[in-house]
Amino acid sequence: MNETSATDNLEIASAPAINPRKVFVKTYGCQMNVYDSQRMADSLAEQGYVATQTPEDADLVLLNTCHIREKASEKLYSALGRLRKIKDERAADGRDMLIGVAGCVAQAEGEEIIRRAPSVDLVIGPQTYHRLPQALARVGRGEKVVETEYAIEDKFEHLPAPKKEQVKSRGVSAFLTVQEGCDKFCTFCVVPYTRGSEVSRPVSQIVAEAEKLAAAGVRELTLLGQNVNAWHGKGEGGRELGLGELLFRLAEIPGIARLRYTTSHPRDMDEALIAAHRDLDQLMPYLHLPVQAGSDRILKAMNRRHTAADYLRLVERIRAARPDIALSGDFIVGFPGETEEDFEATMQLVRDVTYAQAYSFKYSPRPGTPGADLPGHVDEAVKDERLQRLQALLTEQQYAFQRSMIGKRMDVLLEKPGRLPGQMVGRSPWLLPVIVGENPGEIGNIVDVRIIATGTNSLMAEMVAAKRQANAPLALETQS
Ligand code: 5AD
Ligand code: SF4
Repeated sequence: MNETSATDNLEIASAPAINPRKVFVKTYGCQMNVYDSQRMADSLAEQGYVATQTPEDADLVLLNTCHIREKASEKLYSALGRLRKIKDERAADGRDMLIGVAGCVAQAEGEEIIRRAPSVDLVIGPQTYHRLPQALARVGRGEKVVETEYAIEDKFEHLPAPKKEQVKSRGVSAFLTVQEGCDKFCTFCVVPYTRGSEVSRPVSQIVAEAEKLAAAGVRELTLLGQNVNAWHGKGEGGRELGLGELLFRLAEIPGIARLRYTTSHPRDMDEALIAAHRDLDQLMPYLHLPVQAGSDRILKAMNRRHTAADYLRLVERIRAARPDIALSGDFIVGFPGETEEDFEATMQLVRDVTYAQAYSFKYSPRPGTPGADLPGHVDEAVKDERLQRLQALLTEQQYAFQRSMIGKRMDVLLEKPGRLPGQMVGRSPWLLPVIVGENPGEIGNIVDVRIIATGTNSLMAEMVAAKRQANAPLALETQS
């Protein structure tokens, strides 16, 4: 799952209480952490907490962490250093502040976090967020609490579903976790250890949450999972379903105009899912399909269990089903043993595929993963230099993709007001933000625009016509 820049504090919509306790939630890492932070915020709202925008003002600070690369946990410890000072200052004024660490660093390091940062009161792993209220009650009684058991099925069952006011404050595009964990054990990756083995949420739970989101005005759903396309479930009469069938089911929900999913593994792109890209109008023509490397030797050492040629053939099949699909990827440079020739194979694969967008990283050894013990670790300077070359190529492809949008007519889902009067910012089917002038309409509308220019990470458009609201809910405001 690719990282977001969402490290902002969360909106928690709840009825104001007298002297409510205040919480500051900060999210690092991927979209699943963003989703989890929202669910934790919903659960805290039920406990009477309200959001605050600064840690200085908070009775509870919750850091939802990411462990995927080294810098992420370094970031956590420096944030904890800053929080300790704030906690001490508040204590001098006679005001408590509790510090909780959630997410993948919490899962991976457990008690070690409290040893290294004794001001931390609570460490809670991603599988146990449904126990947050009880854990906080124990902290309130003066205990230091570490909750890192695997209890993921319980999590799905017991986390509160989002309420209408909460959904509304978060906009017309929402995340929905359908799958969590990973059984693939790529040798560089901590996810199988921090998020546990693959678990799929049942269809009924997913549909119920999607219906709630739609009734509150959500128009675009992004299904989340570390291995989202490994999702499987049971339909009517016990029929086996895959992600393709689930997407068709969700597309029937009134109000849901757009569907996306992330992150996929190439080995789990089955025929039904590829067919959904061909046949399902609501499924947007954008796919994040990480390959990591282009050399078969490195792919094998990474335990990806496919070759570069397998990936290229898969891309061909997907493009045959949906010719306008835009691809995005993740890449790692400097995996142990990577030679200049291996790296050149990654560059060649990028040239062969052509990506609209991509994330690329220097390999960072994660303790406890097989990659960390492999011989032939690559020099930092060499990693830096390869990353620069790869990123230059990927950026060039990204800009070429953006330029190819100029003059195109497309549907844009309006998400929020723009910076200038009369402007709205929406999203193209290919995920890029689009700035539309001339008072294009209300948030949640889908409008027909023509792209007139491109910025660094967005497009500018003019209106062609307000589009008939296909699949719009009949009376949004009156639905419960
Ligand atoms: N070092 C560098 N990048 C990594 N990723 C995962 N683990 C590591 C690591 N140890 C990258 C992969 C993955 C993305 C989410 O993060 O490219 O797809
Ligand atoms: Fe990590 Fe590989 Fe699983 Fe993705 S598929 S979460 S990279 S182990």
